[in-house]
Amino acid sequence: MPSLKSSSPSGLLLLGLLLLTVVGHTVAQSSRKRSSLNADWRFSRFVDNPDGLSYDTLKAWILPSSNDFITRAKYQRPTGTPPGSDVQYVKDSFDDSKWDPVTLPHDWAIKGPFGAPGVSGPEGKLPYNGVGWYRKTVKLGTGDVGSGKNLYLEVDGAMSYASVFLNGVLVGGWPYGYNAFRLDLTPYAKAGDNTLAIRLQNAPDSSRWYPGAGLYRNVWLVKVNSVHVAQYGTKVTTPSVSAGSATVDLSVTIENTSNSTKRVDLVTEVYEVDASTGKATGDAKATFKSISISVAGGSKQVVNSTTELSNPKLWGPAPEQTPNQYVAISKVSAGGNGTVDSVETKFGVRTLVYDGNKGLIVNGAHVYVKGVCNHHDLGSLGAAFNYRAAERQLQILLEMGTNALRTSHNMPAPELLDLADKYGIMVMGETFDTWKTKKVANDYHLLWDEWHEADMRSYVRRERNHPSIVAWSIGNEMPDQSSALGGQIATELQNIARQEDGTRKSTAGLNNAGPGTALVNVLEIPGLNYQGEGKGTSWNSTYPSFHSRYPDKMIWGTETASTVSTRGTYVFPVTSGKTAVVGPSAGENVTMQYVSSYELYHPSWAASPDKVFIQQDKYPYVAGEFVWTGWDYIGEPTPFDNTSRSSYFGIIDLAGFKKDRFWLYQARWRPDIPQAHVLPHWTWPDRVGKVTPVHVFTSGDEAELFVNGKSQGRKKTEPSEYRLRWDNVTYVPGEIEVVAYKNGKKWAEDSKKTVGSPAKLNVTADRTSIGNDGYDLSFITVAVVDKNGDTVPMASNAISFSIDGPGEIVSTDNGDPTDMVAFPSLTRKAFSGMALAIVRSKPGESGSLKVLATSSGLEGGEVVVRAG
Ligand code: GAL
Repeated sequence: MPSLKSSSPSGLLLLGLLLLTVVGHTVAQSSRKRSSLNADWRFSRFVDNPDGLSYDTLKAWILPSSNDFITRAKYQRPTGTPPGSDVQYVKDSFDDSKWDPVTLPHDWAIKGPFGAPGVSGPEGKLPYNGVGWYRKTVKLGTGDVGSGKNLYLEVDGAMSYASVFLNGVLVGGWPYGYNAFRLDLTPYAKAGDNTLAIRLQNAPDSSRWYPGAGLYRNVWLVKVNSVHVAQYGTKVTTPSVSAGSATVDLSVTIENTSNSTKRVDLVTEVYEVDASTGKATGDAKATFKSISISVAGGSKQVVNSTTELSNPKLWGPAPEQTPNQYVAISKVSAGGNGTVDSVETKFGVRTLVYDGNKGLIVNGAHVYVKGVCNHHDLGSLGAAFNYRAAERQLQILLEMGTNALRTSHNMPAPELLDLADKYGIMVMGETFDTWKTKKVANDYHLLWDEWHEADMRSYVRRERNHPSIVAWSIGNEMPDQSSALGGQIATELQNIARQEDGTRKSTAGLNNAGPGTALVNVLEIPGLNYQGEGKGTSWNSTYPSFHSRYPDKMIWGTETASTVSTRGTYVFPVTSGKTAVVGPSAGENVTMQYVSSYELYHPSWAASPDKVFIQQDKYPYVAGEFVWTGWDYIGEPTPFDNTSRSSYFGIIDLAGFKKDRFWLYQARWRPDIPQAHVLPHWTWPDRVGKVTPVHVFTSGDEAELFVNGKSQGRKKTEPSEYRLRWDNVTYVPGEIEVVAYKNGKKWAEDSKKTVGSPAKLNVTADRTSIGNDGYDLSFITVAVVDKNGDTVPMASNAISFSIDGPGEIVSTDNGDPTDMVAFPSLTRKAFSGMALAIVRSKPGESGSLKVLATSSGLEGGEVVVRAG
């Protein structure tokens, strides 16, 4: 929760010591404390309902949890004994010692096995369904409870239909699994041991992809005094920005939960954020005038203030701009008792203009949107949020030249936005995949009427200070998009975004709605899914009709391409077209359930990257695109929906290995990086004498191909060409080499050669030094190589992993969408010559972790990772 960060632990200690000093007759109170509740949980999953509870029976007690985010009449907590108090799992006396010990974030389904009864291929075949109970003892001191104290539970995401019990009493809950929520534990807490129990329930057929299951994001305990900054209670905007100065507006909501009026003083100073530590640095760069107000007991009051920041360092997207950040540190004192609360709000100074003709203008400069859509899972780690795994996803995307991310189709973990702020990635923050009308039987439409306002409002309020957010997405391909209802809902959701933020415009991903529909008439940024490039075999773009009807509205491709491929696999013959609908005789290897990596194939509604580029370039007023998808994800394995486990859409596979498409996008998005990439691999014992097309992706403008040193001709990229292709090459063993040129000068080279049989394992780590908090990770890649050290492109040797030292192998993968071996397995077959193991230290332990990889008949390999 970036807007309400607590101080560092050492800072808190110091502050606490200072505040406990007796000043005259008053003893200063300590400030807010936010601590992780991730450790020491017990967990059990039940396929059949073990407790007779359901959302319907709990709902009346859960709905009041949304009260801070609804403008209609507030829900009253029903009187009487809440349901569930007789369920054994909520009771202090229940013996949970036989349940699984778990640390959060935890995805109960990711360990598998695949093939869970009742779970479809699109949902990832993993056992996410059923009821899950989590229990934990929370120890509280006498100073934590009682008059003048508030205790809150903050859950960054729980999949799904969470209901929370403290000491046997139902406190509240939140059904939408992607949203964060906070519950007030104060009335139910006591000094000593408290039993916290959380019930989750996932109906099958509730998602079009793998949703994950459990307490899969961070969980926090927040202790504050009765006078404090309210939840998501700060808002920073920069309404006017010039090189010399920026106006910074601050609004702070102060809450007083005591029963008497309190005199409250607020002081806020602005500091620069050090890019490497993420912390305030140097002297204050600006100060807001201190403000004194009276806040009545049991009420909230908003305080507004403004200041000027000289020579502001702007936040802008990488690589052209720099993502500078500031932090506003607000200190609240009350009734002469010294500081009673302190919150940090990170923000960025930047301007955004959404231009109907030019696209997106950030800080006065046009920024073409080079975006990808991603789902929330982290491959073999599942939905369980992990900072390092998310950071790795973004780093590999940045290497490709990505400057924008769509969090399809839901709110991300809060830390993902911290990462986007830090790395300078623009974010389209999305909320819903369905509105009132369903896509699948048990999706969000069941919650729509009662929850959509709270979900939309709380999300925007929570994340509005992140400079990375450049647009709110109010939905994706909603079945209501073309109806009159679509217009009403869009109006309502956009209004919520304006009320809570007002500095970004809203968009939605529309695959059907056209110009003139009620929704598009009101939508601030029309977002086109696939219709912009023309669906499938059609080249009819709807960009012109949108642009001519709404010349002042910026438009963009909210979802493009949906090209499918399986890393390192190639299927012949290759289409001669620039784009082709995938099928048994077009790109599919039906036997293996793979799709060709010539990167030209896609489902009937979609397109190749080349086609998208052609159409985007034809209509330069289009602000850019969000490719479906940056990374492969679990579930939705089109075109093999029933048999495979994970998607084929990613530019990067599920293990994090680059497919050929990576270089096609890099060539377009980072034309400054000298680069050439030749495909396919060149080890085809059964293709001698057969036509084997060779394609080249390059940031150059011309290239020459050589087969065993013999030129196959030099080709220039013509307008509307994004790859160079030599489609009539006959395969002979040896080597293919490409030399690329730019402006007539040599620019880059690449080659592929015929390799020998597997001889050994080459083991490398993305980081050989990691932290020992139990969360930091090293990603270990194993390549099966021949005696010369060249990766064997079709190798599928079974690799066994082991580790020496104070660490563990969390999971393994290879990016093969058909591999049904459970992710924790220590044996993993290489796929297209490669496999991955993810390693972490034991919490708090330091030392060398030696990761070994062995395979029968091959020379093994190892790498040492230092933890601590
Ligand atoms: C879109 C949808 C995405 C994904 C994609 C696959 O229509 O919005 O969630 O299903 O198709 O091509």
